[in-house]
Amino acid sequence: MSTKMQMSMEVNGEARDLVVEPRTTLADALREECGLTGTRTGCEEGICGACTVLVDGEPVRACLQFAVQAHGREVTTIEGVREWKTLEALKAAMREHFAVQCGFCTSGFLMLAAGALTRKPDMSAAEIAEVAEMNLCRCTGYQPIVRAMQEAQASLKVAAQ
Ligand code: FES
Ligand code: FES
Repeated sequence: MSTKMQMSMEVNGEARDLVVEPRTTLADALREECGLTGTRTGCEEGICGACTVLVDGEPVRACLQFAVQAHGREVTTIEGVREWKTLEALKAAMREHFAVQCGFCTSGFLMLAAGALTRKPDMSAAEIAEVAEMNLCRCTGYQPIVRAMQEAQASLKVAAQ
């Protein structure tokens, strides 16, 4: 008897009906069932944050969630936010501040930062640093990422005036 389960979620604005094992993670469902490989899997135990996506607008570690937990919810991955001003500002700032080296962590950082800046546009410098500490980067030393988040925040404030 199959143990698979049916589930539906909205991914990047598109309805997805999937049949998954109960233990399939959201990260694996996005990568393997939906073909959205921009969501990276690194540690697969909730530490590195490379798998960060937004579920109903909140950054979550997709390796720690079962896919079925996203049933009925809206999931946004790095592929789904091309027109999102916050993300565009972050991408530009990360390029300018050399906050990308090997790039493995980058989609997770972008989703984390975009989710955090959307939820709280007026974060303090200390809060931005705290957000950056949530994910791991083996290359950049974090300061370029923090500076990029600060610059993105400033440019979004100017654009909103
Ligand atoms: S792969 Fe999910 S936190 Fe590292
Ligand atoms: S840029 Fe290489 S792990 Fe972050």
